Amino acid sequence: NEIYLQGLGGVLPPFSTDPTTLESAAREVLESGPFSYVAGGAGSASTVRANREAFGRWGLVPRMLTGSTERDLTTTVLGREVSAPVLLAPVGVQSIVHPDAEAATARAAADVGLPMILSTASSTGIEDVAAANGAGDRWFQLYRPSDPDVCASLLRRAASAGYTTLVVTLDTWTLAWRPTDLDQAYLPFLKGEGMAVGFSDPVFRGLLEKTPEDDPATAILRWLFMITGTDYDWASLAFLRDHWDGPIVLKGIQHPDDARRAVDAGMDGIVVSNHGGRQVDGAIAALDALPEVVAAVGDRVEVLFDSGVRTGSDVLIALALGARAVLLGRPYVYGLAHAGADGVRHVLRGLLADLDLTLGLSGHRRVRDLGPDAIRRR
Ligand code: FNR
Repeated sequence: NEIYLQGLGGVLPPFSTDPTTLESAAREVLESGPFSYVAGGAGSASTVRANREAFGRWGLVPRMLTGSTERDLTTTVLGREVSAPVLLAPVGVQSIVHPDAEAATARAAADVGLPMILSTASSTGIEDVAAANGAGDRWFQLYRPSDPDVCASLLRRAASAGYTTLVVTLDTWTLAWRPTDLDQAYLPFLKGEGMAVGFSDPVFRGLLEKTPEDDPATAILRWLFMITGTDYDWASLAFLRDHWDGPIVLKGIQHPDDARRAVDAGMDGIVVSNHGGRQVDGAIAALDALPEVVAAVGDRVEVLFDSGVRTGSDVLIALALGARAVLLGRPYVYGLAHAGADGVRHVLRGLLADLDLTLGLSGHRRVRDLGPDAIRRR
């Protein structure tokens, strides 16, 4: 209502409310390197496209005389009440799109009442983001350091800064072939972006001969090799279970057998995701992986979903296919690029308004009620 009334009063939004134009508009405000880094995918970007195309194969079937002005977007995720089934996906190096970076995202997420997931590759430290997020719900995403003491230190810091849930990303144990970045010789990490979590870690600093301030080049490489390029197996998850008291969610699951293994490993949740098409070129769309995974483990762990969510109806389709909630990636980063915290707020509020109206107009009152009958294959 607020957004509509503002419009009727002649107040224009800070930038378009059309989620499909966010990317092209971001191209106008960002340098080519940062823009391509955010928008790009692995290889030929076939999986980036597949993620969007998959949503086009499903449609909502609106029901009549059952919608209501009294609607309820709330649900629970891992036992905690959330104001809507949407979380901010972990996105590293946000300083490349806006100087306020993750602190702005954290403020906006708290204002709108959505959980945010902070990346290990954040350009802002764990504690600083927690301060900006205040009473918001925050989760911490782990790129697992090869040194167990450094890993334990990150987990201790996240827990004591009030991060409730650990998200372990499995699909980026090494960085994919990304021609758009290679063509521009643009890798933000090599420029020292996204190092804040590592460089502020006392245990990591203790391993260095010179501080990151005195010898940034060496520290950058040490940190990059610390969080990528280590072989882990399923048994290695026990270490994380031992060092984290809260729920653990595995991000990057696409095969039902891996979902079953996550259950066997005692995990609390999974994110069906292909990292927004940034890791395996030619991988199936994340949405196409969702039904099989839900059928395999949906009654035993909470299944979250990301990769390709752009609109309210996308959220509803993912929920109808069995996801408990979705993670939003690039769209809020484009909002950040445009207008810092205000831009992130604008994108999130627009998505929630779209979700709310589409829910009601499809004949549903509560997101919790969505099931397979709400959709059909086109
Ligand atoms: C990501 N993603 C990501 N994931 C993660 O676990 N840790 C990270 O540091 C990052 N960093 C990152 C940077 C950028 C620029 C992008 C676009 C994405 C992946 C992210 O969490 C999520 O899986 C995808 O972005 C979801 O797809 P959409 O919504 O962008 O299509």
